[in-house]
Amino acid sequence: MANKTVFLVAAARPNFMKIAPLQHALAATDWCTPRIIHTGQHYDANMSDAFFRDLSMPEPWCHLNVGSGSHAEQTGRVMIEFEKVCMETRPDAVVVAGDVNSTVACALVCAKLWIPVVHLEAGLRSNDRRMPEEVNRVLTDRISDLLWTPSPDGDENLLAEGVPAHQIERIGNIMLDSYELLKDKIGASDARRRFGVDGQHYGVVTMHRPSNVDDQTTLRRIVDQLVRVSARVPLVFAVHPRTRKNLEAFGLWPVLEDAGAITLCDPLSYIEFMNLVSGARLVLSDSGGVQEETTYLGIPCLTVRDNTERPITLTEGTNRLLTPNQIESAVDDVLSADASDTVRRPELWDGKTAGRAATSLARLLGA
Ligand code: UD1
Repeated sequence: MANKTVFLVAAARPNFMKIAPLQHALAATDWCTPRIIHTGQHYDANMSDAFFRDLSMPEPWCHLNVGSGSHAEQTGRVMIEFEKVCMETRPDAVVVAGDVNSTVACALVCAKLWIPVVHLEAGLRSNDRRMPEEVNRVLTDRISDLLWTPSPDGDENLLAEGVPAHQIERIGNIMLDSYELLKDKIGASDARRRFGVDGQHYGVVTMHRPSNVDDQTTLRRIVDQLVRVSARVPLVFAVHPRTRKNLEAFGLWPVLEDAGAITLCDPLSYIEFMNLVSGARLVLSDSGGVQEETTYLGIPCLTVRDNTERPITLTEGTNRLLTPNQIESAVDDVLSADASDTVRRPELWDGKTAGRAATSLARLLGA
């Protein structure tokens, strides 16, 4: 059988747990050589290397080292470097994941070079164009050849935008394959013990959206609410580099440090983070992926955003949207409700998505 070369673009933290299961599934076939291209959008050891290690991913076949910059700089640099790689080694197909700047940059390069491009996690829409990720999603979907959606709303959004049905394939939520692959290691991790919360009620916090952390007034409001919440439930806050920079610049870091019941730490590896989340009473976040992981695990998720591109986590999951001012009362609601032990999971969020993706890719490439 002809061997097909497929580039898998990995760029930023939320991509790694989506690309890893696909890499493993494709490497196990006799028709495909998957090659990981790391754009370098995330480059800190704890934003990148730790994930490669936890997810047992091979070293990237190629590293573009683009680093940080403005949106145009970052997107442009990825395009310039990725085009060189594609012209030197023309792949049979390229898979891009999620909605980060590198996703749209690589998809655009492929579209111009007539290389088939597949979007993993297609069709999600917040309908909020002020979010850079929404622009990335809309553009990537428009120029991709095959659109792998995680949930029915994805299909509906794409059909409503005029995408032909034959380009859309619902494969499920691949990120949860990573959870299933690593479940035993996640259970065995000592993160909860290390943070002194094992067997206790505690909350996990992550916050990194520009809309929450770049504006001083908003970030101060969030910090005030977290301090108040921590009097009721201890919090572990894994701080993204962007957030840390702003907390320090706005003089808010000491406020969190002095709160007593808030433990601040650097971003955690996948296994450590999921160990913490899976034992938490609640999670407070503005992340995309965390909304899905908490739904999968049946853990209440309070999402500090006006909207979500993952509405299924509201209708079939444990997610709730709120403003910064509503954090304290929402936490009260969660703490006063019974901890539910019934977990409902959206269809095809079953840990078997990578296999469906590999089959779909084989069909696309006639392999
Ligand atoms: C990016 C994605 C966002 C995703 C998030 C997860 C875009 C538009 N945004 O946002 O969708 O939810 O990743 O983390 O692609 N930095 C470091 N070390 C790193 C990476 C970043 O210090 O390894 C700092 C830099 O100062 C950088 C800033 O964080 O300027 C922001 O990084 P960037 O990749 O531009 O966006 P994120 O906020 O991480």
